Amino acid sequence: MELIDIMLKRRSVRKFKNIEVPEEKLKNILNAALLAPTSRNRNPCSFYVIKNKDILKKLSKAKKAGAAFLAEADCAVAVFADSEKADTWIEDSSIALTYMMLSAEEQGIGNCWCQLHMRFSEDGNDAEKNARDILSMPDNYRIVGVLGLGIPNEEPNAKTLNDLDLSKIVYFE
Ligand SMILES: Cc1cc2nc3c(=O)[nH]c(=O)nc-3n(C[C@H](O)[C@H](O)[C@H](O)COP(=O)(O)O)c2cc1C
Repeated sequence: MELIDIMLKRRSVRKFKNIEVPEEKLKNILNAALLAPTSRNRNPCSFYVIKNKDILKKLSKAKKAGAAFLAEADCAVAVFADSEKADTWIEDSSIALTYMMLSAEEQGIGNCWCQLHMRFSEDGNDAEKNARDILSMPDNYRIVGVLGLGIPNEEPNAKTLNDLDLSKIVYFE
């Protein structure tokens, strides 16, 4: 599949079948994460693969809205970045998450980004801190988000090039 076709087809999937993501496909997704560029090549991100259902359930409650789907995911990849290593931890983590999304899509693996940075749980606690506590990470490990993964149990419509809002593109000539 051409990259543009993967991009057109990629939609967030939050409903998953009770079937495991094949190990080979998960490895490809993690390779994509490791291939993502980082500012000054500082590589501040580490990728934590969570298959444990109790941990997935806890993460699904780390913020008050938009994380519930993690409890249904087969697995998730939490991207933590060492903020002492790179002030660009948000950018570096976001690119890695995006690379993983495209790799997952290419292989037919449903995926959705779950934002934790700047979000809060039901009880008003910082969702990032909740995730750090759940996974026993030190304070300098910052987390933009978690990518939930699974075999899709829904098929959102692909986009077409006609859907694009070309008015967002401005040329200075
Ligand atoms: C930075 C970012 C954060 C997101 N956070 C969440 C989230 O916490 N929960 C969720 O269900 N979807 C989340 N999403 C998915 C978006 O809601 C989704 O990408 C958007 O609505 C467009 O839909 P599409 O991905 O199907 O094209 C996030 C996406 C991005 C890029």
